Amino acid sequence: MAVTTFKKATVETLAAVAEEMKVRQTKSLILLFSMGSQFDHLIFQGLAKLGVFCLVADPASVSAEDVKKLQPTGVIISGGPASEHNEPPPFDRAIFDIGIPLFGICLGAQMAAKHIGARVVPGEKREFGVHRLRITEDDALFVNIPAETLVLQSHGDIIELTGGITVLASTDNAPVAAFSFKHIRGVQFHPEVTDTEHGVQMFENFCFTICNITDPFPVGKVAEQKIAALREKICGKKVLIALSGGSDSSVVAHLLKAAAKDNNVKIRGVYIRGIDRPDDENNVHRFFGNQKWLDVKVVDATDLFLEALAGKTAMHEKRVAMRGIYREVLEKEIESFGADFIAQGTLYTDLVESGEGHETGARRAQIKLHHNVNNKFSVPELTPLGDCVKDNARDIGREVGVPEELLTRHPFPGPGLVVRIEGEVTAERLALSRAGDGIFMEELRKWNLYSTVWQAGAVILNSKCTCTKGDDAAEGWVVCLWAVWSVNGFTARPARLSHEFMEYVSDRITNEIREVGTVVFRTSGKPPATIEWG
Ligand code: XMP
Repeated sequence: MAVTTFKKATVETLAAVAEEMKVRQTKSLILLFSMGSQFDHLIFQGLAKLGVFCLVADPASVSAEDVKKLQPTGVIISGGPASEHNEPPPFDRAIFDIGIPLFGICLGAQMAAKHIGARVVPGEKREFGVHRLRITEDDALFVNIPAETLVLQSHGDIIELTGGITVLASTDNAPVAAFSFKHIRGVQFHPEVTDTEHGVQMFENFCFTICNITDPFPVGKVAEQKIAALREKICGKKVLIALSGGSDSSVVAHLLKAAAKDNNVKIRGVYIRGIDRPDDENNVHRFFGNQKWLDVKVVDATDLFLEALAGKTAMHEKRVAMRGIYREVLEKEIESFGADFIAQGTLYTDLVESGEGHETGARRAQIKLHHNVNNKFSVPELTPLGDCVKDNARDIGREVGVPEELLTRHPFPGPGLVVRIEGEVTAERLALSRAGDGIFMEELRKWNLYSTVWQAGAVILNSKCTCTKGDDAAEGWVVCLWAVWSVNGFTARPARLSHEFMEYVSDRITNEIREVGTVVFRTSGKPPATIEWG
């Protein structure tokens, strides 16, 4: 699914934008050039939360002439995987000279700096993670922000103090972490992620002070809009929904429920057993069993999964195998139910990590292929959360009455325990993974830590260590526990759990699971790691 993207200023596109602005009762528009960053949708959503209309633009096709015709109030250029000094991305550099307030982020800042005449060179160290920013110059971008604040950096190139730019702020590794030049401002860090302490304030400053936007439109009613759009599509039809027991598919189910009301719609939920945890299936029965508005069918695909995964050790290969079975099972169910649509809880995060998202000419990295993206089912897909990240999806869920217990469950990946087992997935290792996860979750709950972490998991690594169980020397599997703090899954930091707790969980796992020799704890955040192991 691609979010509508501005590609050229034709009579039709300009009329469509004007119409959209009328509906939103606004005269202001921020044009966001999406350079392919994993985070650029967060800019879009962040502006939506501020009530600012944001239109995503394709840097490969929108020229300075198009921008002049559109007359946006401000321009933002996102980050991206390209590098300005050795792989300059497609973008009409004349856009920098139009004079509209412009905010470059990471790659966007480097492109702007280079255009102005500053040097952009590979840094000695790549800068990943949260760093301390020191603001050295009064600027509208940093109003109401303390002089020292934490920001998330994720870049390899640095900007040198050349070309007449004014330095606004620095970090230890980036002397020019923020700069200005006439109507242009650039930051090397990512204000759109929650790890940047005052990122929202920076966007507020850019929109309301620098661009002088005075007519933000009221946010909310998002669920209503989504229900109305679904309602139109599914009237009188049959919809199959893949239910996982987690929050996203539950939110979609409730959106469908509302859209189906008095609309002669039949809904069937399918739960696929095999690479899941026991409480996932229980949740589906608890919250969706015995309902009038949908019937639930459980398909046991354990053997199919194990067969498809046999002998496969590389994560990508295992993801592809898992997707194959997921699709095969659902396709069969589509046929037996006679479904007109298949609905899934796919989030924007899943799309973008799979290399999809805003349809632009910018190169995007495929971080990992998610199970629920681009499955090419025989019937059209309904993915009403395809433009949301986790926290927005949860907000929508609250609006449509999804039980809080479902909404606040930790996310669990569609490929299930497959991505939490390194090496070959066998019935034995699935059982180990379930047992390890079960103990970890049980203790997080008992110690009242479950709701303080965003997500946690146990990984069965593909290595063994020497251990002493009883009087004998033995070999046992290494289990890696991880727990993260996050807001929307785009970035994450390792959760700081007490040593006492970790030791307790570790003791339980090595004592109760005979095959486990030792337990380790992962301390990396995202980036550079991802939240799941695989
Ligand atoms: P990563 O590991 O990519 O995870 O940092 C971000 C969030 O997405 C979940 N995840 C998935 N969810 N299908 C899903 O539905 C997938 O293929 C998948 N891979 C990761 C992960 O658990 C985390 O919450």
